[in-house]
Amino acid sequence: MSSQYLSKFVFLAVLVVSASAAAAPQDSLHHHDDDATAHHSFTDAQKWADHFEDPARDSWQLPDSVIATLVDRDDLVIVDIGSATGYFPVRFARACPRGRVIGADIEAEMVWHLNERARREELPNLVSILAAPDDPHLPVRADLVFLCNTYHHINDRVDYFSRLRQQMNPDGRVAVVDFRPSSPRGPRHKLESGEVEAELSAAGYKLVASHQFLPDQYFLVFEDRQQ
Ligand SMILES: C[S@@+](CC[C@H](N)C(=O)[O-])C[C@H]1O[C@@H](n2cnc3c(N)ncnc32)[C@H](O)[C@@H]1O
Repeated sequence: MSSQYLSKFVFLAVLVVSASAAAAPQDSLHHHDDDATAHHSFTDAQKWADHFEDPARDSWQLPDSVIATLVDRDDLVIVDIGSATGYFPVRFARACPRGRVIGADIEAEMVWHLNERARREELPNLVSILAAPDDPHLPVRADLVFLCNTYHHINDRVDYFSRLRQQMNPDGRVAVVDFRPSSPRGPRHKLESGEVEAELSAAGYKLVASHQFLPDQYFLVFEDRQQ
């Protein structure tokens, strides 16, 4: 094989390997890195919808109780970071008909999927926006920022949540729901609730509630420490 053909062959082989790696189906909910943050792609919104919107999830996710705990007015401005296919945002939008719910996700396909869902389910108070991985770039000041099973996907969290604090109402709350390390559900790599508390404390928040009713997850609520 001439060197010209050899280099073409090597180039094509690299392309094929990269393409198949990108297209490889995710065979579990989470792929794991060694650090505290688990990264993987959430590109196939329909596939993820089958998983996230599985009605069986309600039995342990207890969405109505989570929402009843957080929603004290029907005009709240709520941001769901890592909104995905809308499991919580759709429910928040129904609970706050006079408010606004913004789903923020870094996957364009998820954003499109949730906007379509809001249109189909006639929820004019729900929109989804494309977030940057290091900044949600909120278009309005939030009363409540909610993250379910997403906290561990975010990098450089102290910086991220310090920036987020500037995009919230002064008395706004941040609620984090994520899997306890002892739970058989969720990703293999899970963060202790103490790690979340320490990081958000470093980012300028104080813990105001730690709800214990979810069987598999902690449910922490924070406010700006200056309040
Ligand atoms: C495990 S899913 C959680 C889905 C949803 N919160 C639920 O409970 O059904 C994580 C989602 O977070 C998104 N995500 C990951 N990193 C993010 C970031 N830095 N900012 C916003 N969304 C992010 C992913 O694209 C994915 O849709």
